[in-house]
Amino acid sequence: MNLFEHVKKFPFIAAPLAGYTDHPFRKLCREYGASLAYTEMISEFTMATPRLRPRMEKLTYFTAEEKPVGIQLFGNKAGMFYDAAKAAEEMGFDIIDINFGCPVRKVAGSGSGASLLLDLPLAEKIVQNTVRAVKIPVSIKIRSGWDDTKQVFLDFNKMAEDNGVSAVTLHPRTRMQMFRGKSNWEHIKILKSASKLFIIGNGDVTNSFDAHRMLKETGCDAVMIGRATIGNPFIFREIADESYTPTLRERILTAARHFELLHSLKGRFGMLEARKYFNKYLKGFDRASDVRQVLMKMEDKEEILNFLKNMPEARAIENDGF
Ligand SMILES: Cc1cc2nc3c(=O)[nH]c(=O)nc-3n(C[C@H](O)[C@H](O)[C@H](O)COP(=O)(O)O)c2cc1C
Repeated sequence: MNLFEHVKKFPFIAAPLAGYTDHPFRKLCREYGASLAYTEMISEFTMATPRLRPRMEKLTYFTAEEKPVGIQLFGNKAGMFYDAAKAAEEMGFDIIDINFGCPVRKVAGSGSGASLLLDLPLAEKIVQNTVRAVKIPVSIKIRSGWDDTKQVFLDFNKMAEDNGVSAVTLHPRTRMQMFRGKSNWEHIKILKSASKLFIIGNGDVTNSFDAHRMLKETGCDAVMIGRATIGNPFIFREIADESYTPTLRERILTAARHFELLHSLKGRFGMLEARKYFNKYLKGFDRASDVRQVLMKMEDKEEILNFLKNMPEARAIENDGF
């Protein structure tokens, strides 16, 4: 089945999030219903250079049940996107997204990410090299513009249409806004009515209500959710099923699974990384802060798993379906 036909059946997608959207994260989002998930942004130079590619192994690793799965590339060396895209396709990714939206200094300050919103000709070369390298679809992820005086999303859409891009994701903030203020969904609506491409809306969806509202208010083809998925893959099932909310037991056992997956992919580093998720999964009950404090001090895999699985709050309730 065509990737976009698949996404249309449940048009809710997990966003690329640097420092988060690795195999364990994507796997859980897909299990809870996200129709597509992406790696975090990966540099074109690293992907294009065989000797450096192994450094990205933990970011690019995926398993069959994650498919379809996307990879996101960032960078400003147009020529390198050709080899980077080829490598991504050979690895088995189903779609390549190009990052034209990252506002952080390390990326935008070195001429990549959102700073390409100021250089349409270079962005176009990047897109051309990517599209001509592969048979899989290519998408771009943009912000509305650099600042309020330079809104370029419609120019980027036109460039994408002219160069064989399949989808555009719009996070309607400017680069200068970073993550401040509110995203302007009106821009998504304008883009959808102007574009021939598959339009993915993104920005400030925090719950299932917002997700449905974005679809309805903007007419976009799919909704991408970022921050609200951290420690909360459940959001995708909540979108699909109004009557569903995860029980505390389900949240605890999912934290345990997330931890196990991280540990098996990354060993001790994965164990330490899991701490940032515990703060998200384990909240909203009486002992939550004590529980998190205890977990932060533990450094042994079995100890952590036993602790989580034996929490009174995680005790089995018959027929709770989990
Ligand atoms: C910690 C963090 C990491 C992010 N990493 C990426 C990234 O690697 N690539 C990307 O295109 N966007 C990245 N984003 C932006 C998100 O994909 C998304 O566009 C943004 O958070 C707005 O959506 P939201 O309001 O649903 O979070 C990141 C955002 C955050 C908060």
